[in-house]
Amino acid sequence: MFFVACSPTATYKVMSTLFDGVPDPNAKPLIAVTDSVKTDSLALLEASNIQIAGSSVIHEPYKSNDCSNCHNDGSLTMQQPELCYQCHEDFNKKYKYLHGPVASGGCTACHNPHMSDYKKLVLREGQQLCYYCHDSKDVLKNEAHADLGETNCTECHNPHGGEDKYIFK
Ligand code: HEC
Ligand code: HEC
Ligand code: HEC
Ligand code: HEC
Ligand code: HEC
Repeated sequence: MFFVACSPTATYKVMSTLFDGVPDPNAKPLIAVTDSVKTDSLALLEASNIQIAGSSVIHEPYKSNDCSNCHNDGSLTMQQPELCYQCHEDFNKKYKYLHGPVASGGCTACHNPHMSDYKKLVLREGQQLCYYCHDSKDVLKNEAHADLGETNCTECHNPHGGEDKYIFK
């Protein structure tokens, strides 16, 4: 395990390795979703560090126990973003420009596929969701962000895509 400075490109490289593209043949398979795993899934999720205590938002297919929509014998039935586009609108078709992690299928860089304490199943709140990859110093250097304060980035930017490269809403 190694850590990288949180510049978009550095983090993104790591993200891409983790989230998109070709399955790594050496990667540890996901835990098989058997009946016993199902029963133990909450304990497993807890053990895997995902916050569940008081999770207020539960993803519909998870809530209804439709694990097989996404899992099949210890692996995912398909890769992201196709996994998600089975049920959700394909952002490729909706937007001219896609946000980097959306283009590469990094849906779970921002969303927990099962549950979350935060609205829309996001992993982190407010600006932190974006500062996970974008260096705040770089962002604040831009004049456009001079009066940013605590304003949520998604007041102006669409997290998925848009009609120009700045993915404005
Ligand atoms: C909408 C798709 C989807 C559904 C439905 C779903 N999962 Fe998952 N699950 C995922 C994805 C994607 C990951 C990999 C998480 C990541 O990318 O970090 C995952 C990871 C896991 C893991 C590995 C540990 C972890 O949390 O990373 C377990 C165990 C698991 N799921 C169990 C379940 C069980 C049990 C159900 C049904 C009650 C279920 N999942 C339903 C998408 C789904
Ligand atoms: C089997 C169908 C299915 C799959 C696959 C699926 N979803 Fe969903 N998702 C739903 C349904 C149903 C809802 C609730 C209705 C809605 O908002 O469209 C939902 C809602 C959501 C929401 C909004 C939650 C809220 O609180 O409003 C997000 C975010 C989301 N899904 C992300 C994902 C991501 C990311 C993936 C891929 C890892 C994914 N979904 C895969 C069916 C699915
Ligand atoms: C950079 C972070 C980020 C990434 C990456 C991301 N999302 Fe989202 N997503 C969000 C945020 C933030 C919201 C809430 C938007 C709002 O409330 O304005 C959201 C909302 C949603 C919703 C609820 C409907 C809506 O538009 O409000 C769905 C469904 C969804 N995302 C699916 C996906 C899928 C599928 C992917 C991957 C192809 C993905 N997201 C990648 C941040 C992200
Ligand atoms: C998983 C990492 C990741 C997260 C989280 C993330 N981004 Fe990005 N973002 C990227 C990458 C990668 C690019 C493409 C960078 C490039 O081309 O230089 C990008 C590009 C952008 C761009 C366009 C920049 C340009 O010059 O083309 C904007 C605007 C942006 N992100 C806003 C946001 C906002 C707002 C959030 C939070 C809702 C967010 N990002 C969260 C990785 C991320
Ligand atoms: C009040 C609206 C607004 C808010 C809120 C906002 N932005 Fe922006 N952002 C802009 C505008 C306008 C530009 C285009 C600047 C330009 O033309 O150089 C931009 C450009 C960007 C870019 C690409 C240019 C660069 O500086 O790298 C990134 C990345 C970005 N914003 C990220 C963020 C993040 C992260 C947040 C939240 C912490 C955020 N923005 C909040 C308006 C906003």
